[in-house]
Amino acid sequence: MELGLAGKTVIVTGGGSNIGRAIAIAFAQEGSNVVIADLDEVQGKKVADEINAAGKGSAIVVKTDVTSLESVETMVKKASEKTGAVDVLVNNVGWDKMMFFANSDAAHWDKVIALNYRSVLNTMKSVLPLMKAQKKGAIVNIGSDAGRMGEFTEAVYSGAKGGVIALSKAVAREEGRNGIRVNVLCPGLTPPPAKSFGEKSMWTTDMNMTPEQLEKAAKGYPLRRVGTPNDVAYPVVFLASDAAGYVTGQTLSASGGYTMM
Ligand SMILES: NC(=O)c1ccc[n+]([C@@H]2O[C@H](COP(=O)([O-])OP(=O)(O)OC[C@H]3O[C@@H](n4cnc5c(N)ncnc54)[C@H](O)[C@@H]3O)[C@@H](O)[C@H]2O)c1
Repeated sequence: MELGLAGKTVIVTGGGSNIGRAIAIAFAQEGSNVVIADLDEVQGKKVADEINAAGKGSAIVVKTDVTSLESVETMVKKASEKTGAVDVLVNNVGWDKMMFFANSDAAHWDKVIALNYRSVLNTMKSVLPLMKAQKKGAIVNIGSDAGRMGEFTEAVYSGAKGGVIALSKAVAREEGRNGIRVNVLCPGLTPPPAKSFGEKSMWTTDMNMTPEQLEKAAKGYPLRRVGTPNDVAYPVVFLASDAAGYVTGQTLSASGGYTMM
């Protein structure tokens, strides 16, 4: 199967940690030139060094705050400097901290909405002019099963991710005529392997789970395990590739059967 990703410019937001890191590495393994757009430059550089040392594809880090349109526009300019193109955008940055909605406050709402939803507006708006000029482009937005079903103690996050799903479908309808595809990949619970995340990862501060908690969570999945970063990364690469050239506006869960819709 020809994926058509060799030599392509691929932006991965939050590509320094966990799922984003695996996505960046998976695209590089297909020969893509990856732009890691992460607020944590140090962690992003670790992943870029790993990719460049492996000798397939390439990677650069552009320090970016995806909640700022200005910062994203600067990043997209740098990303397209060499070839004038951005072929693939993967919106991977997201954040949550579990709590009952009744206990959440406006600061929590603002952070969840900025990192999970506004970030996607900023990046899609910034790459669309380039993709339209190319008459081709693929966008994969990382959603969550929470956004499909509404998850216990993740109410605001569920709403923001549900918003990402609806937004993606709407943009897919508008931009299909320009050869641009937009799809959503929803991970299930995907804890990071050791040393695969930086200090701005939610797993450093807000998402600590004990092995016992993870084991209990795994029992809720038909496949009886939680996800690995590559469980998410490989379907993302497929959705962005020419192999999925007739797939747009779709939401795919890579979550061990946690949701089936
Ligand atoms: N891991 C899971 O269990 C899980 C489950 C469902 C959905 N998701 C979704 O998958 C995506 C990735 O999750 P993860 O667990 O790998 O996240 P993570 O928190 O481990 O990594 C996020 C990355 O984004 C970077 N980042 C944080 N704020 C940023 C900003 N303002 N601008 C640019 N970069 C910033 C961090 O430095 C980090 O490298 C998110 O959208 C998340 O909502 C994750």
